[in-house]
Amino acid sequence: MADHPPIETYAELDSTNAEARRRAESGEVGPVWITAERQTAGRGRRGRAWSTETGNLAATLLTTTDRPPAEAAQLSFVAALAAADLAETCLGPGAARLKWPNDVLVHGKKAVGILVESGSRHDGRLWLAVGIGVNLAQAPTDIDRPATALAEHMAAPPPKPLDALEVLASRFEVWRRLWATQGFTAIGRAWTDRAHGLGERCEARLPNRTVSGVAEALDPDGALRLRLDDGEVERITAGDVFFGGA
Ligand code: BTN
Repeated sequence: MADHPPIETYAELDSTNAEARRRAESGEVGPVWITAERQTAGRGRRGRAWSTETGNLAATLLTTTDRPPAEAAQLSFVAALAAADLAETCLGPGAARLKWPNDVLVHGKKAVGILVESGSRHDGRLWLAVGIGVNLAQAPTDIDRPATALAEHMAAPPPKPLDALEVLASRFEVWRRLWATQGFTAIGRAWTDRAHGLGERCEARLPNRTVSGVAEALDPDGALRLRLDDGEVERITAGDVFFGGA
């Protein structure tokens, strides 16, 4: 028996997150992993597009929770830890770093993107679509920031997407159980151990403005604590952060 929810595979979808949303809106509760070899309209954070090149992994976990939205969103950190484990299965311990909120970097370049979407169900619970894109074989060339693929750092060929998803789904389950039993404190600690850029200067592009300062720590709820140049602390809860090149 697999130690993770079932996996359903498609040759092509517009977006695995869009498929999860359609299923949730027609009443499906999951948990189920949805994966596609090709996405014709893959989506990224903040309205950006996400290209799934041949041999890369595009997968979404559809699940349902009783937790309030802010708490449920912590699953994005669970996903980042699972994806970092997948990367380190291929590249060795210490190869993956986590950039707030949930990018996985390899040698300072993005190798994994995570997009969590959610909505209310008729029964008052929340559905969640935890979408994970892993550049296994190829890095996309159509993005404005440095990207990489696991294959660029491996002597052997990278895993096939479905094999990679088996690892990812199992590791997700391990971290999800830790979150369920010990709360976000345990997840935040594990994330901090692998964090990229804590203690360094960064620029945070927020939905309506840009601020700069030193990324101090992850707050107990998953916000990033940024020490601004005037000494004040700003809690970053949404946006993108940039450290030097990444
Ligand atoms: C980001 O902008 O960094 C997030 C990218 C998320 C991409 C994944 S691929 C699987 C799932 N389906 C989508 O359309 N997007 C997510």
